[in-house]
Amino acid sequence: MPYTLIDGKAVATQIKQEIAGEVNQILAQGGKRPHLAAILVGHDGGSETYVASKVRTCDEVGFKSTLIRYESDVTEEELLHKVEELNADADIDGFIVQLPLPKHISEQKVIEAIDYRKDVDGFHPINAGRMSIGLPCFVSATPAGILELLKRYNIPTSGKHCVVLGRSNIVGKPMANLMIQKNDPGDCTVTVCHSRTKDIKKYCLEADIIIAALGSPGFLKADMVKEGAVVIDVGTTRVPSAQTQSGFKLKGDVEFDEVAPKCSFITPVPGGVGPMTIISLMQNTLLAGKKANEIINIK
Ligand code: GUN
Repeated sequence: MPYTLIDGKAVATQIKQEIAGEVNQILAQGGKRPHLAAILVGHDGGSETYVASKVRTCDEVGFKSTLIRYESDVTEEELLHKVEELNADADIDGFIVQLPLPKHISEQKVIEAIDYRKDVDGFHPINAGRMSIGLPCFVSATPAGILELLKRYNIPTSGKHCVVLGRSNIVGKPMANLMIQKNDPGDCTVTVCHSRTKDIKKYCLEADIIIAALGSPGFLKADMVKEGAVVIDVGTTRVPSAQTQSGFKLKGDVEFDEVAPKCSFITPVPGGVGPMTIISLMQNTLLAGKKANEIINIK
């Protein structure tokens, strides 16, 4: 079957331009430039890369950004104090605390300390809860990015069987939740499979849409996918590679070369879901900025 490659990089570039246009409009109307702050604790390689990319993208779309760094021995109290400070800072529309945090700090406590109106990661229980009952909220970046891809490629979802592989709080659970909602994209019958599911292959073979977010490189094979399925690959595991200068490459949860010919649509890794996650954070920040402007502005 000839498949369509879902080009997340191209969609992300397009949305960046759309956001930049909206920022210009806000400024032209005398509004405030949206402002995102990020707290980064320690020097984890992955976190450094993600946060640098978030800050760079803020620049590209015209947002103000502030990076707040702590060494990994920062106390929980100190971090919570900074969260309170950012909650109270009227110039900051939204902020994130990059995860993971060092073991001595409770991630949940930190997430719950964030004012949910500034929680552009959508991790606060109020946002997670509002999302699960279909109320306006900040939706976490990866699921929001996947919905955007389904929408922009006009992929029909209503009445389809969607199998979500993985049950994490930041991808699997919210994704499953969004796909069952009365919405477009949405209106699916959803099955969630995870590490304890017996015979995952059986469920996958019944799926019209598979969203693979297990973090298990090459997990989904051709004999697990039915002809014409839509496959969304959330996996980004660093695996050793002789073909790259760095000595590693990103590998998704899908064995792309053998699965792609069976699909109607499929995302590559890299260049599929990945570029969309930062864009979703920018979309949430724009939303937060617009809300702040409604209050500040004479409207
Ligand atoms: N660590 C991995 N992904 C994310 C994310 O989307 N937000 C934050 N804050 N930390 C992360």
